[in-house]
Amino acid sequence: MHAKPLLLLSLLLFFERECTASTANKFFVDQRPNILFLMVDDLGFNDVSWRDPRMQTPELEKLAFDKHTVLLNQSYVNQECSPTRSSFLTGIYPHHVGVQDGVFQIMEPSGVPTWFKFLPEDLKTLGYGTYIVGKWHLGYCNESYLPTSRGFDKHFGIYQAMADHYTHFSGPITRPMRELAGGSDFGLDFWYQNVAQWGYGDRYSTDIYVEKTKLFLEEHDKSDPFFLYLAFQAPHFPLQVPKKYTMNCKQKTEDRRLLCVVYNYAQPEIGADMFGGGSGAAVRVGKYKLIVGNPGYFNDWYEVDATDINWRNADSYKPQGPLDSKVFLFDLNADPTESNNLAEQLPEITEIMLELLKEIGRSAMPSVHVSQADLRGHPSNFNNTLASGWCNYVD
Ligand SMILES: *[C@@H]1O[C@H](CO)[C@@H](O)[C@H](O)[C@H]1NC(C)=O
Ligand SMILES: *[C@@H]1O[C@H](CO)[C@@H](O)[C@H](O)[C@H]1NC(C)=O
Ligand SMILES: *[C@@H]1O[C@H](CO)[C@@H](O)[C@H](O)[C@H]1NC(C)=O
Repeated sequence: MHAKPLLLLSLLLFFERECTASTANKFFVDQRPNILFLMVDDLGFNDVSWRDPRMQTPELEKLAFDKHTVLLNQSYVNQECSPTRSSFLTGIYPHHVGVQDGVFQIMEPSGVPTWFKFLPEDLKTLGYGTYIVGKWHLGYCNESYLPTSRGFDKHFGIYQAMADHYTHFSGPITRPMRELAGGSDFGLDFWYQNVAQWGYGDRYSTDIYVEKTKLFLEEHDKSDPFFLYLAFQAPHFPLQVPKKYTMNCKQKTEDRRLLCVVYNYAQPEIGADMFGGGSGAAVRVGKYKLIVGNPGYFNDWYEVDATDINWRNADSYKPQGPLDSKVFLFDLNADPTESNNLAEQLPEITEIMLELLKEIGRSAMPSVHVSQADLRGHPSNFNNTLASGWCNYVD
C-alpha cells in the first residue's frame, strides 16, 4: 500500500509481579508475569540512535542494551500493518489467515476471520486483564472483528490505519476509494469501548495513548496480571508532532526532520528490535534468503544518507520495471545487510528456493480482502464516524 520500508519496532516487556500469596496456600507463587507489548508503526531499521546517531532515542537505546534485553536482530515481519498485526495476535503466518496481500481499507467489508483465536483470548483464560491502546487495523465492519470481541477487555484508539494525529479523522487511502467516498478526511476514527470519542479534537494521539495506558493500568485489578498491547500510530504518517515540542533534529529534509522529532516524542515509551523482511514473498533456508516481488524500496519519502550501515542500495530498490518479476537471493552470512543479489550467480539455489516458496504458497488460505469499498460503511451513515456494524462477518 505504501511504497516504503514499513518496519515495525516492537518491544515485549515482562514484569515480575509481587507475589500475591493466597491465604489458601501461602507458598503459592504467581508465575504469570505482566506483559506490556509496544508496537511502533513504520519505524525504520536505522531510525534509532544506535544505528543513526542523528536520531535521538536515548530511552530506547537504554532498553535495547539493558542486560535483561533480548535483541531479536534476525526476526522477520511483514512490511505492512494488517498482516503483521494478525501474525502477532494469532501466532499464525499471514498467508494462513488470509491477510497476506495487504491491509484492511476503510469501508472494506472484511476482517480477520473470527475462527482464529487471538492471544488475549487465551490470556483471559489464565485470568489476565487484557487491554489495547492505539491502532487495531484488523477489520472493523462487524462488531465481531473489533478488539473487544477478540479477547480485549478494553480498547481505546483507532480501528483503521492512519488517522490525523490531532483531529482523529481518517480517510480512504487509495484514490479509487477516495473518489467513491467523496473526500479524504471524512470520518472520525477514535473509540473507547466502541463509542465514538469526540472530545479529543486538538490533542496529539501519542499523548492520549500514554495517558490511557496509565489509566488502564491504574484501573486494573492488581490481584491478576495484565496484558497491555500499546500500539502507537506514530510515527506512521501523517507526520505530525506538537509544535511546542522542539528537539535538536538537524536532518536535511523537512520530512526526515519531522520523522526525527516524531520518534523522539514517541520513544520514551518504546523499545527493542524487529527486523522487517520484504513484501511479495520471502523464504529463508540457513544462510540463504530469497525474496520475490517488491522487497520494499526507498521512494524519496525521506533521505537515507544518515547511516553507516549500507542497508541495501537505495537505487536498486526503486521500481525498475515490473517488481513482481524480481528475484533476490542473499547470503546472509557474507552479506547480512542484503546488498548483493546472487540470484543470477546461483541459479540452482535460486531455483530450489523458488520451488520451496511455491510449495509454501500452496498452503495459503484465499485472501479475505474485498477490493470494492462498501458504501454501507460510509461515515455519513454513522454521524461521520468509521463505525462498526454494517457487514456480516466471514464464517
Ligand atoms: C545479532 O545478535 C547477536 C547476539 O547478540 C550478535 O552476535 C550478532 O552479531 C547480531 N547480528 C547482527 C547482524 O547485528
Ligand atoms: C455526532 O457528531 C457530533 C459532531 O459532529 C457530536 O458532537 C455528537 O456527539 C455526535 N452524536 C453522537 C450520538 O455521537
Ligand atoms: C455481524 O455478522 C453476523 C454474522 O454474519 C450477523 O449475523 C450480524 O447481523 C452482523 N452484525 C451487523 C450489525 O451487521
